[in-house]
Amino acid sequence: MAFAEIETNFHANGGIDDIVEAQRPFALKHGVSFGDFIQFAGAVGVSNCAGGPRLQFLAGRSNFSLPAPDLTVPEPFDATDKIFARMGDAGFSPNEVVDLLISHSVAAQDHVDPTIPGTPFDSTPGDFDAQFFVETLLQGTLFPGNGSNTGEVMSPLAGEFRLQSDFEIARDARTACEWQSFITDQNLMVAKFESVMAKLAVLGQNPQDLVDCSEIIPVPSVAKSQVATLPAGKTLADIEQSCNAVPFPVISADPGPATSVAPVPPS
Ligand code: HEM
Repeated sequence: MAFAEIETNFHANGGIDDIVEAQRPFALKHGVSFGDFIQFAGAVGVSNCAGGPRLQFLAGRSNFSLPAPDLTVPEPFDATDKIFARMGDAGFSPNEVVDLLISHSVAAQDHVDPTIPGTPFDSTPGDFDAQFFVETLLQGTLFPGNGSNTGEVMSPLAGEFRLQSDFEIARDARTACEWQSFITDQNLMVAKFESVMAKLAVLGQNPQDLVDCSEIIPVPSVAKSQVATLPAGKTLADIEQSCNAVPFPVISADPGPATSVAPVPPS
């Protein structure tokens, strides 16, 4: 927000310019630092998703900062080793990268394949649920848009998008069991996300200097279910089980014709 003319031009930040331009006037109008505003808006945003977390919100970040150098944010076409190394530089273990990627449960792409903006990463982009962790393990069968793009691999459902990085981290021996663990435990998934986001939110800050204003974050509605399902038309045979230590859980399949996922409408 402070250096939009520099940082939003970095390739890895593609698409962030929209939300930066929408939010900057609020931060300026209310005299809130950009760091605080981004944390506040993110916490309120995910609280709107059914089953979502109630993230801690600490206020009091300074508005003094410097532009980040380019090439520090992971790209979906980066190898897992590179992604884990970069996130490790910031203090996150490979399993904590999985915990951060819970965010992709409520996410869609606009720019990897620009011909199909709003294509979500799971079949329930409005719900903070574990469908993302099941669906990324299904065998890929199709490209939802104009064919293979850099950073994209085949997805299992019409209208669903699969990032190469999500595909690989789901299957990596270092992270496959953390990935699988959320499929039958929505509460665990939310607790892990709240914890890792609390860590992310104070990177570069001294938490002692911040004030806990978490009570202003809305309480999300409860999750529809603790256990994810197989999308209609899929069976357990379509799962590419990747955690060697724990068998894949037996979950039910949704009834009805093969699942096709609608795009997320523009905001
Ligand atoms: C680990 C490496 C990561 C990679 C390679 C990655 C990659 C991507 C890509 C390529 C998109 C689509 C952007 C577009 O085309 O508009 C995306 C969307 C998104 N990502 Fe990630 N991501 C990563 C980690 C994270 C983390 C740590 C968070 C937050 C904690 C996050 C939250 C999101 C959200 C919320 C969206 C959807 C934005 C929207 O719907 O407009 N991602 N990610």
